[in-house]
Amino acid sequence: MKRLAPPALFALAAALPAACSSFDFLTDVGDARQPAAEDCGECHVAIYDEFRASSHADAWVGPGFLDATADHAIKDCLGCHAPESIYTDGPPVLRATRREEGVTCLSCHFDGGAMVGPEDSSALAEPHPVLVGRAIYRSSLLCGKCHEGTYREWQEATDPDGETCQDCHMERVTRTSTQATSAISTVLVAFEDEFEGRRHTFHVPLGGTIDDAVSAVIDDVRRDEETTRCDLILTNDLPHLMPTGDFGFRWLKITTAALPPSGSTLSVHEESLFNELGQSLVPGVARRLAITVPSRARALRVTVTTGKRSGPRAIIFEKTFALP
Ligand code: HEC
Ligand code: HEC
Ligand code: HEC
Ligand code: HEC
Ligand code: HEC
Repeated sequence: MKRLAPPALFALAAALPAACSSFDFLTDVGDARQPAAEDCGECHVAIYDEFRASSHADAWVGPGFLDATADHAIKDCLGCHAPESIYTDGPPVLRATRREEGVTCLSCHFDGGAMVGPEDSSALAEPHPVLVGRAIYRSSLLCGKCHEGTYREWQEATDPDGETCQDCHMERVTRTSTQATSAISTVLVAFEDEFEGRRHTFHVPLGGTIDDAVSAVIDDVRRDEETTRCDLILTNDLPHLMPTGDFGFRWLKITTAALPPSGSTLSVHEESLFNELGQSLVPGVARRLAITVPSRARALRVTVTTGKRSGPRAIIFEKTFALP
């Protein structure tokens, strides 16, 4: 870990306290003030970039939320979308400043005048106090503070040792906590160890766990001269409803294309499931969908797509089944 010669280290040790006191503003959080997420991004560069691209950064300014609250007029709705620190006994409280940052760094990390996180520090000095609060950062409870409905679904679907929200929604990554951007941060980073942390994108990365979200089987194929009937059995392999979410407009679209021995698609059948209509797939419970296709069909291509009001998000299942 020691990469500097002792004299250089000595000079640094003398300079750091003065440099660090200029970072006091990072923990200056009160009724009408708090540092910006961008300030955290000066050092935690990679985490900040991921956070900026996440829905959490849009929680206050997203068009769906503006519509649903008549531009923030419905006061009961605001707390979780621009919260103070979540370290409160009750529900999240609306903060007075920097609301446009939505669910921001300090919402999840600030407590008792320090930044709380899952790891012991290996840095030479921290520009802000650091507290280790491992358990809560590794627990679904943290997410459940705001994702109330999804958290309840998760509790019902899995045992307490099952995969947490973080396991699927915050991809593992090995790196240092900060990245060098200035003379001071270069020195700080030089003393930090890499460790296995997590990305702050919060969406499930496409192509990873998402492949295992749903499984499908074709069953009970019945042919007559004109048509072939069968059942498509879908099972949600996630520990929460699919789609999940207490708010917003999320859907799951199941597209079944009938394919002939050769040539173009014979017919396409589409069915959408909406959480708001209570149609979501329940974890582990098989759902049968009746499919009817022209009897010339020799195969079915099943595609499952997830989406929101703003459009499709991801294809989470695609497979071609031969028809016996
Ligand atoms: C000048 C650089 C700098 C700035 C600005 C900064 N931090 Fe840090 N932060 C650090 C260093 C260095 C550590 C210790 C990292 C280590 O040793 O792994 C740290 C540690 C942390 C930890 C503990 C992580 C863990 O390993 O558990 C959290 C949480 C944190 N910072 C959040 C923030 C937030 C939120 C802000 C903005 C309000 C912020 N930091 C601003 C440098 C900075
Ligand atoms: C302080 C409240 C709060 C906490 C804590 C919180 N979230 Fe969120 N989360 C929100 C809000 C509000 C949104 C909606 C953002 C928007 O308007 O698009 C959201 C959005 C999301 C989304 C995207 C939903 C979508 O449809 O795009 C995911 C995924 C997510 N959060 C996962 C997590 C995970 C995982 C955790 C725990 C590590 C967590 N959240 C902790 C409030 C929170
Ligand atoms: C086994 C992995 C897994 C676990 C555990 C898990 N999720 Fe998910 N979650 C997913 C997948 C896969 C999707 C679908 C992604 C999509 O539609 O884009 C999803 C979708 C969501 C969505 C809808 C928005 C979105 O990204 O599409 C929210 C919100 C969400 N999860 C929150 C949570 C919360 C909160 C927890 C913990 C209580 C949790 N999830 C636990 C895998 C998981
Ligand atoms: C919705 C809650 C949430 C938000 C918002 C959030 N974090 Fe985190 N953060 C977490 C969780 C959960 C972990 C623990 C991940 C793990 O187990 O390693 C974490 C881990 C960290 C760590 C430790 C390093 C690592 O990768 O595990 C640092 C540093 C950190 N966050 C800084 C920030 C900064 C800076 C921001 C804003 C740009 C931010 N966080 C926004 C929930 C959040
Ligand atoms: C307990 C915390 C909490 C409260 C209170 C809350 N929300 Fe949210 N909101 C969330 C979370 C978490 C999400 C993301 C996942 C979900 O829908 O569950 C979200 C997402 C949304 C979205 C979807 C944004 C998008 O574009 O995908 C809308 C719209 C929304 N909320 C509107 C509201 C309205 C309207 C109210 C008041 C009736 C409200 N919220 C109150 C936590 C909350």
